[in-house]
Amino acid sequence: MSRPTRAVIDLQALRHNYQLAQSLAPKSKTVPMVKANAYGHGAARVAEALSDLAPAFGVACIEEALELRDAGIKQPILLLEGGFDAAELQLAATKGFWVMVENHRQKDAVINADLALPLTVWLGVDTGMHRLGFQPDEIAEVYKTLNSSRNISQPIVFTSHFACADDLNSDATTKQIDSFKACAPVTALQSLANSAAILAWPKAQREWQRPGYMLYGNSPFSVPQENADQLKPVMSFESAVISLRNISAGESVGYTANWTAQGDSTIATITVGYGDGYPRHAPNGTPVLINGQRCPLVGRVSMDMITVDVTALSQVAIGDKAVLWGPELAVNEVAEHCGTIGYELLTRMPARVPRVYS
Ligand SMILES: Cc1ncc(COP(=O)(O)O)c(C=O)c1O
Repeated sequence: MSRPTRAVIDLQALRHNYQLAQSLAPKSKTVPMVKANAYGHGAARVAEALSDLAPAFGVACIEEALELRDAGIKQPILLLEGGFDAAELQLAATKGFWVMVENHRQKDAVINADLALPLTVWLGVDTGMHRLGFQPDEIAEVYKTLNSSRNISQPIVFTSHFACADDLNSDATTKQIDSFKACAPVTALQSLANSAAILAWPKAQREWQRPGYMLYGNSPFSVPQENADQLKPVMSFESAVISLRNISAGESVGYTANWTAQGDSTIATITVGYGDGYPRHAPNGTPVLINGQRCPLVGRVSMDMITVDVTALSQVAIGDKAVLWGPELAVNEVAEHCGTIGYELLTRMPARVPRVYS
């Protein structure tokens, strides 16, 4: 038997989540974000599973786009950070990749490139996140310049990204939408919504939407939300018990002996560790499902193993199933224990963990 640690990926759940995003904005085209190896789920397999539904895909960089092309994905692929040099623009044009243009350097590079074919451009506006994008007061001039270039294939898509759409009480999203409305021509194609906006900010709906995290079945919100409650988690991160021992009160467990048993305890060792993407800083008490029951992590996370207090379980044996996160234990909950977000836990899962598709 091989090491039982694996990420089981439910492609039907993925399709359900995509269809939910589509149904919330029936007039929009839904472009799945499959960057960072599809948030850890395996970009090629995820894109294949959505390829009869999705009109295009979104990635961070050309290497990710090329991986999808090599896997046989035919749709246009949007490079969210645009091209990094002239050679990339040339490759993007020939491979059917769309490029984000969000600063003057990128704009000039596109205009001055010697392209075999014109490029499809998404024009980024900085409506308040202050990370990427042209300022609203310069966008008209930039649009005019791009429009007159032979290197641009029409139409240009106006886009912006939200900083706080996951905060349902913040007025930042409304302010960003207002800023966008004030500078994006009504006749232009537009794209605003990420997962949180698709789920909770209908006024962000435009011709194109860009869901990421929600596709993988997890809520971008820290509170229940009726649309997010319909999502189905796609990944089940599973492992198994490989060793069991009874220890006496006062004995410690693991590196640095940072947890000491208050009473006589049964400790299960699970074959998963930070080398598999389970966060090393997960504190004592982080929940782990053993045979479907919540048990607390105890002791430091090692590279290949964790230890769990299973004293409360009436039955446990070597080989029993452990779930680190999945449909019955939200990755968001585990992330919260670790002072991070589920996005990070998913995207950091390394290649060592086999992805098993169901
Ligand atoms: C430009 C852009 N659009 C869409 C997304 C998808 O966001 P989410 O995963 O929150 O849906 C991202 C993710 O970081 C992004 O950078």
